[in-house]
Amino acid sequence: MELGLRGTRAFISGSSQGIGFAIASALAAEGVDVVLNGRDERKLDAAVDRLRATHPEVAVSGLAADFTDPGQVADLTQRLGAVDILVNNVGLFGLADFADIADEDWTRYFEVNVMSGVRLSRALLPRMRERGWGRIVFVSSESGVNIPADMVHYGVTKAAMIALGNGVAKLTRGTGVTVNTVLGGPTYSEGVAASVAAVADARSVSVEAMKQAIIGQNATTLLERFLDPSEIADLVVYLASTRSSATNGAALRADGGVLTTVL
Ligand SMILES: NC(=O)c1ccc[n+]([C@@H]2O[C@H](COP(=O)([O-])OP(=O)(O)OC[C@H]3O[C@@H](n4cnc5c(N)ncnc54)[C@H](OP(=O)(O)O)[C@@H]3O)[C@@H](O)[C@H]2O)c1
Repeated sequence: MELGLRGTRAFISGSSQGIGFAIASALAAEGVDVVLNGRDERKLDAAVDRLRATHPEVAVSGLAADFTDPGQVADLTQRLGAVDILVNNVGLFGLADFADIADEDWTRYFEVNVMSGVRLSRALLPRMRERGWGRIVFVSSESGVNIPADMVHYGVTKAAMIALGNGVAKLTRGTGVTVNTVLGGPTYSEGVAASVAAVADARSVSVEAMKQAIIGQNATTLLERFLDPSEIADLVVYLASTRSSATNGAALRADGGVLTTVL
């Protein structure tokens, strides 16, 4: 399928590893110039080098910025210039008892998971509308629909992200711009792998046994395994493409069948 993306330019927040990097790789494979992001400059440079080596035919660059700092985000949007495709991927996650989540943690989760998308969309949408074409894709989670008891803060921000995507889509009326959200399921990204390894270590079990135990506890997964980051990236690339022109304001799933209802 020709996706019609060759020669376009994309920014993917939080893309020096994990799902964001997989999205950047999949877009680069479709001929898209990509701008990666993360906080850690060395990790970001290494990710840029990795992608340049595998996709020498496109322009790959990196812009470091910490989404907890509005000043850094403003600087990032200044330096970025126009993009055709914005992927709001950056997101914090972690298990925590509701009683233990302090106000500062709620604020940090909100800044990174929600305000990153607000600030980037506010800065980049006007140029997309002027040019008559653009794509904004939010990477949310099935946890934004079925809020986990042990990650209430995460689920609330992911629900806000879904609402944000739907609201911003309403500002695209009569243009070729679309705004959609992907609801990801449990995915074995570097971030998740590090958490699984830490828990496995604490319980003195193997990483493989820990992975099986986590998936085993998830009573509704139809896939019965973690997703690979590339499986989320495939849906993001479709939504970023010219082929998805009739889909706008939607939340689509790449969750391995974890959500049990039709809507
Ligand atoms: N993995 C899952 O099971 C899953 C499921 C559904 C949805 N999702 C969503 O998918 C997205 C990516 O998750 P992932 O598992 O791929 O994450 P990950 O492996 O932990 O990668 C996170 C990326 O974001 C960057 N980052 C973290 N905090 C940042 C900040 N404050 N400012 C700028 N960059 C920052 C990291 O780079 P630095 O370390 O250099 O900052 C890294 O490149 C998140 O929105 C998550 O909620 C994940």
